[in-house]
Amino acid sequence: MDEFFHSIEAARTIYVLGIINLVAGTLIFFTCRCLPGSKIAGRLTNHSLYKRLFRYHCHIWKVFIPSVGVHALFAIMLYGWPG
Ligand code: HEM
Repeated sequence: MDEFFHSIEAARTIYVLGIINLVAGTLIFFTCRCLPGSKIAGRLTNHSLYKRLFRYHCHIWKVFIPSVGVHALFAIMLYGWPG
């Protein structure tokens, strides 16, 4: 089992999930309901794509949380628990 977490496949999994974490984390930030009132996203709310993304906010969490979880698990199995 330990061999698998030191394999190239495991490293690729950490990398791909890391990118998914970044994208999903950014989408969650910009579709947070705290934002539409703010200057940052105020103008975004005029765009139909943003309105569609905004509706998927709760679903993006269902991708983000497991992705960070599995990413972290693989990373800890690769490098061990810090300390
Ligand atoms: C929102 C949360 C996170 C994001 C956006 C994120 C993103 C990334 C990205 C883009 C990489 C580079 C990919 C690579 O070098 O393979 C990476 C690598 C890494 N992440 Fe994360 N990560 C997150 C959470 C975590 C957590 C919670 C842990 C550990 C508990 C973690 C541990 C690591 C480690 C150890 C690496 C280096 C892997 C390697 O050397 O191949 N990350 N992360």
